[in-house]
Amino acid sequence: MSVLNVVGLRHSFAGAPVLKDISFQVQKGEIVGLIGPSGAGKSTLLRALCGLEKPDSGEIILQNQDITSLSERNLRKARQGIGLVFQHFNLLETRTVTQNVALPLKIAGWPAQKRQARVAELLALVGLSEHHAKYPAQLSGGQKQRVGIARALANDPSLLLCDEATSALDPQSTTTVLDLLSDINRTLGLTIILITHEMEVIRRFAQRVLVLEQGALVHDGGMLDLLTRAHNPPAIQALLNETRPTLPSPLQQSLTPQPQADRHAVIRVVLVESAAQTAFLSELSERFSIKAVLIAGGASLCAGVPTVDMILALNRALTDDIVEYLAEKAQLMEVLGYVPAHR
Ligand SMILES: Nc1ncnc2c1ncn2[C@@H]1O[C@H](COP(=O)(O)OP(=O)(O)OP(=O)(O)O)[C@@H](O)[C@H]1O
Ligand SMILES: [Mg+2]
Repeated sequence: MSVLNVVGLRHSFAGAPVLKDISFQVQKGEIVGLIGPSGAGKSTLLRALCGLEKPDSGEIILQNQDITSLSERNLRKARQGIGLVFQHFNLLETRTVTQNVALPLKIAGWPAQKRQARVAELLALVGLSEHHAKYPAQLSGGQKQRVGIARALANDPSLLLCDEATSALDPQSTTTVLDLLSDINRTLGLTIILITHEMEVIRRFAQRVLVLEQGALVHDGGMLDLLTRAHNPPAIQALLNETRPTLPSPLQQSLTPQPQADRHAVIRVVLVESAAQTAFLSELSERFSIKAVLIAGGASLCAGVPTVDMILALNRALTDDIVEYLAEKAQLMEVLGYVPAHR
């Protein structure tokens, strides 16, 4: 079931196109990452999705209604079905945690008693019950963001939009907030779209990734698709390189494109799912009497899927039988070049 259907969305500022014919769908319960270089139009897209920015043309169908054609009054109502989480939390400093979380309920006209019960439930959900009477200044960044999430969930939205929700947080708090969002996604089946410039966040968290580049949607698919594809557009490759193993720069500098007798082949190998859990390296070395030196990388989870992404130096020429074997076993085998042999 599709929660959101975006069709041919276009938007410009002062005649300059910022969103160019964007179309995609989001299914219920999906976690979708939205990435792209600064200025690509990510925040503008998110603002359009929640009706804060009126696009020049196109449709945004949220739960069977096109929010681009709603009256101001109906739009305000539709917005209650969308939760927003911001980088800088946007909490009211002079209100307590409870009051901050209660605010959207108040606006939606909930009676005081029902409000109280709902706030207690939300604070329990985000693990902040004992901090209910504190003011934002008395909380850590991670706690503030959990208040932001509780507030965003208050009206039981069908879609949660997060714009750089973890960018202002330290790694520990980032993990706490992502774990919380994952839990909410699993237990409530909540659909989440998350903008981030941290590829590591996408890798750990997003089941699907949309890449925006200069206002155009240039990728819509799994993170694994990107990791296992040899030729990505340069902008995507640059983003990927932030999270995947890369050659240390001294080796990078000594890399040559042509094989030579006294040089080792340097390859990238990506293994996913069951292939990531086999004795790949020892099998490779036994089968071909090859020494494979791990230069960078290793095993991790990519959106919950076991993944090995590694760079190896091989002490043998890449003969056809080795290439064939690697192509069969690995989801990606890419020759990066050749480096001088270690003595
Ligand atoms: N209110 C506005 N008025 C005029 N131009 C704007 C406005 N908001 C955004 N822009 C422009 O639209 C383009 C896209 O901006 P947007 O904020 O959506 O990018 P972004 O992908 O979120 O970037 P970042 O990663 O830096 O947050 C940029 O060129 C920006 O300068
Ligand atoms: Mg932005």
